[in-house]
Amino acid sequence: MSTVIKDGTVVTADLTYKADVKIEGGRIVEIGPDLSGDEVLDAAGCYVMPGGIDPHVHLEMPFMGTYSADDFESGTRAGLAGGTTMVVDFCLPDPGQSLLDALKRWDNKSTRANCDYSFHMSVTWWGEQVFNEMKTVVEEKGINTFKHFMAYKGALMVNDDEMFASFQRCAALGALPLVHAENGDVVAAMQAKLMDEGNNGPEGHAYSRPASVEGEATNRAIIIADMAGAPLYVVHTSCEQAHEAIRRARQNGMRVYGEPLIQHLILDESEYANKDWDHAARRVMSPPFRDRKHQDSLWAGLAAGSLQVVATDHCAFTTQQKRTGLGDFRKIPNGTGGLEDRMPLLWTHGVVTGRLTMNEFVAVTSTNIAKILNVYPRKGAILVGADADIVVWDPKRTKTISAKSQQSSIDYNVFEGKEVTGLPRFTLTRGVVAIEEGAVKTREGHGKFVSREPFAAVNKALSTWKEITAPRKVERSGIPASGV
Ligand code: URP
Ligand code: ZN
Ligand code: ZN
Ligand code: ZN
Repeated sequence: MSTVIKDGTVVTADLTYKADVKIEGGRIVEIGPDLSGDEVLDAAGCYVMPGGIDPHVHLEMPFMGTYSADDFESGTRAGLAGGTTMVVDFCLPDPGQSLLDALKRWDNKSTRANCDYSFHMSVTWWGEQVFNEMKTVVEEKGINTFKHFMAYKGALMVNDDEMFASFQRCAALGALPLVHAENGDVVAAMQAKLMDEGNNGPEGHAYSRPASVEGEATNRAIIIADMAGAPLYVVHTSCEQAHEAIRRARQNGMRVYGEPLIQHLILDESEYANKDWDHAARRVMSPPFRDRKHQDSLWAGLAAGSLQVVATDHCAFTTQQKRTGLGDFRKIPNGTGGLEDRMPLLWTHGVVTGRLTMNEFVAVTSTNIAKILNVYPRKGAILVGADADIVVWDPKRTKTISAKSQQSSIDYNVFEGKEVTGLPRFTLTRGVVAIEEGAVKTREGHGKFVSREPFAAVNKALSTWKEITAPRKVERSGIPASGV
């Protein structure tokens, strides 16, 4: 059985040309003029692009005393509806828990995925067990990225000595460390002060996490990575200071990557102040939305190449879950959705406005991500032999974003009412049509785990275990990754 995508214009990260694309056995087998096949998909007037890769999602994640509401089924269905054909989720061991035990939970829940997926592993505590298991994770489990939280003090946050040791371990294993860069100590102090002063509403969340706490932590993580001889990927880069630190490091020859989210590119701080409680709480995420100056910096970074990818950090909570934080903003589960809307919004606000070329759009939504995560050209490419994860993009198709018609299982959408121009005509996951003209034809369980090989190791400094001085005592709480 073969499928041909006919009469479209192929758009990749560096080329735009007219061609048909033939698919067999889930892979691209031929690209050229006048191809024929058993099934024909009409792509006239459309762009044929590599399906989107979202490098940052949290599906059914235990967090702040609850679980994020979209699971691997609804989350990947939402992704496909918006042209995303692969997601990378964060495996999150509780502090004190075995990384390999946590991974079993992730293996179980991901079997329902509608599209391919991969995992990052999180380092939420440090000890000889973590050190040893990191090697197994890289060499046997197909995971080459490790996330570190510099925020969420008392829950997921790691200290600098732990981060330094873990970064060195990453370098020795050929893995890429990731950071959530916010100064968790300063955030905790500012949160306590705001609460003392009676500012317990959701806007207090934003006030407690100004751009400086992100700028400082980004800079610190970069310097620690440099000392450890490791590259670095900074998740949800949302402000100018963080972007500047990344740009400077790259100019100095470091491999540092920055990941703006579609939410930070489109929404600003006015979402918090003088809004009803639910409205603001639904938009509580870390880092919070910022002002225009920061947004302009992020857009410029994407065009200039100093920021490389656009993600969602999709971590959706219902209004009911958000209301856990009534009376104390520190208890509002942090996170927003965006999986279905990332590609249409970036096209509308990036390509249609002229801020990004179509090729840059493909680079930041797919190809750059595949390269950074070491799955290129199996993913992120329109090339013979690549997986047929393809979006046939109709630049004329429009819609108004609304919770009423979305795939996500939550009861609202932070982009409610926004118009988009540019949507998938077809989304294909390994050659199977999952979305056709807005109709959802996904197959639960079709998605497969994508194993990612380690990079060439750049530093062997910490290949045997060494105790760090005065290690932090970690006790298992028994509650899944709760706290603020
Ligand atoms: O607020 C956010 N970003 N929630 C998801 C977890 C994280 O920090 O990425
Ligand atoms: Zn984060
Ligand atoms: Zn509102
Ligand atoms: Zn996240």
